[in-house]
Amino acid sequence: MCGIVGYTGSKNAVPILISGLKALEYRGYDSAGIHIVNVGTIKRTGKVAELEKSLPAAIDGTTGVGHTRWATHGPPTEANAHPHADSARIIALVHNGIIENYAELKAALVQEGIVFASETDTEVLAQLIGKEFSIKKDLESAVRAALSKVRGTYGILVAAEREPGKLVAAKLGSPLMLGIAEDGYHVASDASAILPYTRTVIYLEDGEMATVTKEGYRIEADAGPVQKKIEELEWGVEEIQKMGYEHFMLKEILEIPEVITNTLRGRLLSDSAILGGLRDVLPRILKAKRIIITGCGSAYYSGLIGEMLIEEFAGIPAEVELASELRYRRFTMNPKEAVLIAVSQSGETLDTLEAVKEAKKHGMLTLGIVNVVGSSIARATDAGVYNHAGPEIGVASTKAFISQLAVFVLIALLLGRNRELSKIEGERLVTELRQLPELARSALSLRPQIESIAATFRSTRDAYFLGRKWHCPIAYEGALKLKEISYVHAEGYGAGEMKHGPIALIDPDFLSVILAPRDSVYEKTKSNMQEIRARGGRLLALTTQGNESDLFSLADAVLSVPLTHEALQPLLTAIPLQLFAYEMARLRALPIDQPRNLAKSVTVE
Ligand code: AGP
Repeated sequence: MCGIVGYTGSKNAVPILISGLKALEYRGYDSAGIHIVNVGTIKRTGKVAELEKSLPAAIDGTTGVGHTRWATHGPPTEANAHPHADSARIIALVHNGIIENYAELKAALVQEGIVFASETDTEVLAQLIGKEFSIKKDLESAVRAALSKVRGTYGILVAAEREPGKLVAAKLGSPLMLGIAEDGYHVASDASAILPYTRTVIYLEDGEMATVTKEGYRIEADAGPVQKKIEELEWGVEEIQKMGYEHFMLKEILEIPEVITNTLRGRLLSDSAILGGLRDVLPRILKAKRIIITGCGSAYYSGLIGEMLIEEFAGIPAEVELASELRYRRFTMNPKEAVLIAVSQSGETLDTLEAVKEAKKHGMLTLGIVNVVGSSIARATDAGVYNHAGPEIGVASTKAFISQLAVFVLIALLLGRNRELSKIEGERLVTELRQLPELARSALSLRPQIESIAATFRSTRDAYFLGRKWHCPIAYEGALKLKEISYVHAEGYGAGEMKHGPIALIDPDFLSVILAPRDSVYEKTKSNMQEIRARGGRLLALTTQGNESDLFSLADAVLSVPLTHEALQPLLTAIPLQLFAYEMARLRALPIDQPRNLAKSVTVE
């Protein structure tokens, strides 16, 4: 997610801003910039070090703002990097969050003759503030007036040439805090940028605005001035970056409700979906006779769910191919009748990128479901949908995997409602989608139970993950999670496969994790549990709330998640499996965020 830093005081702001941006690098970003009041703005794509190298030697000033950008609207270019200015260049703005109504605001400003320098939603806000500042008595009044026109989320920090020494910060949905130091005041989106200068902080709440000068600060909300509690930071930098959690992986699993919200944000109608990134190619997708989905690892497994979603709701034949295999296959299908969907969190997985290139050579339309804006796969595909899941630091794909499933639901819904999917069914899906963040929170509340179950099974050396229909891919994904971070040998199978060989391995030392939601294939899955039980196998059952007692006699342990639409259920059952893998690895004191032999992005063959 983007990072914000700001300083005003008696010292040169430049080194303070640069060190603050470096402290925020862990959050992932693709460009960075600073503005020093009455000196100027410098911004660069790439790393903060690039920005630092390009700074004029003697640059000096005591008030400034800085930003690391994780691109959402507009690719990572210098023009799109923050800080952004208004046309008259009297203000400088850095922003975290999403301005949902930026398009209509921008259209109105363009009508007034304002010329935009970037594709970002942030510049729209900068232009609005600049316009207000030309008529308002002070910067804080201009910021307040501009924000009254905005819908969405923001953490912003603004400086103005006309009021040197002043910073105005405002928060709605994106973190911001003040740091009170002896030589001045700091503002940041994350305490790790403030910690080297002070531990004395004030956290802004939603709806609050802080006006900061070298002499002091004032915090207001709509109802007027606010008295804020001054707090002392206890954490070290590393704990702060993990928000106090032991590992990024745990922090990212616990972010899942917010990630589902962000993935769906602005993309749901009452009975369908809006995917701006597919608008121009939608007619071609709707005419497709076949959709080929490709990816690696968890991205491939999310594709297996995507295949079922597209066939179930859009009625278009779909198939999923491992990218590392597809790239060597002969493309026999008529390119005019087939569409490729490449799934990749990093957008840099070489096998997936090469599969995209092969498909393009064959003349196919290629789409991407990618989390990193402007990444190689995002740029190589003809169109696509960004996850908006925020940076995923842990090597294991957790929140990104859930976001990929949510994007596939949106795609299936959009295609379906442009084909035979009924309005009623579309409305039902949307209603259930809107409840998912809350249901995901309920799934996360299983963590204490999962911790004790992991302790029960801690000596496990071999495990099956078993599921049917919507939960067969989740079984594969659960097995991958367990093996990649706890190094326990685990295999995922369609539960119906047990009789065709795997059941030969079942014995009292062998754990089977079975996905048994109360769905259309529940009774068959339950009979798998009976077969395993009859051979003395250990069983961990994951079912849906209200069904637990039906399995107590069969399983050593039973977990349950809320019941939702059968096709959305995988977004919930995947969560306890991620937590189970995490707790099993934590019991083994393994390097969970960087497991041995693994990389976050496999950019080699
Ligand atoms: C998932 O936990 C793994 N880290 C790995 O399988 C990953 O999903 C795979 O390498 C694909 O990565 P991508 O989504 O960045 O393309």
